[in-house]
Amino acid sequence: KATPRFRKLISSLIKHVHDFARENELTVEEWMAAIDLVNEAGKMSDDKRNETQLLCDIIGLESLVDEITFKLAAETNDAATASAILGPFFRHDAPILENESSIVDNVPDGEITYMHGIVRDLVTKKPVEGAWIDVWQASTNGLYEQQDPDQKDCNLRGKFKSDANGHYGFYCIRPTPYPIPYDGAGGKLLTLLDRHPYRPAHIHVIVQKDGYKPITTQIFDKKSKYLEDDSVFAVKDSLVVDFTPLKGNPKAELELEYDLVIAPQ
Ligand code: DHB
Ligand code: FE
Repeated sequence: KATPRFRKLISSLIKHVHDFARENELTVEEWMAAIDLVNEAGKMSDDKRNETQLLCDIIGLESLVDEITFKLAAETNDAATASAILGPFFRHDAPILENESSIVDNVPDGEITYMHGIVRDLVTKKPVEGAWIDVWQASTNGLYEQQDPDQKDCNLRGKFKSDANGHYGFYCIRPTPYPIPYDGAGGKLLTLLDRHPYRPAHIHVIVQKDGYKPITTQIFDKKSKYLEDDSVFAVKDSLVVDFTPLKGNPKAELELEYDLVIAPQ
């Protein structure tokens, strides 16, 4: 049954779409071209590929909605970790792993990085125990495991739990820039807009703990290309980080220390 919020949204949407058509004297041919593109995106979409979401991302809609949704949080508690878009490659069924284990299986040229930090309560500044940290990243060939038959299921994904000191830590790779999929409807739209499909190097993170506001975000490598022209507009300054050389740990060549600050609900 339609809620008042739904009625408000749909009538506003109809009004704006009608205004858009009127203002631009939209023709039947133009409208059909748009329908074709959305249909193409729909036909390509399944549980491994969300082309319709990709279209929204290319026009900056997911980033705008993220900004609107979390603006209040950012204003009222500016020290909490900033949010960023989810993107189309999250999986709910990532394996639960122990801290200090690795999410990397057989990644050619992957620079192994020890990512770690403390999950903190924004108000008390105290470590938070038992927070879930879900991470996923693309391989050095620019593909997430579900896009790539050569990667093991759930490669470069894992779910970790902060310990009694709020600590989390795992081994991953230094992410590399890569294109969003551009062999379909999204690629056509990018070409029409004269835009490249690249995203700056990033690691996806979701932090969740009962009693706290969950945070969906992405961490970006300061040295990456495309920080200024991310094809899906997700970069925020506070999410740009340094990967530093790690000495004395044979398991990794780089270190990324990143504390995650969550706000009570
Ligand atoms: C998009 C986001 C990603 O993180 C990614 O790796 C590819 C595409 C997107 O927003 O469409
Ligand atoms: Fe991504």
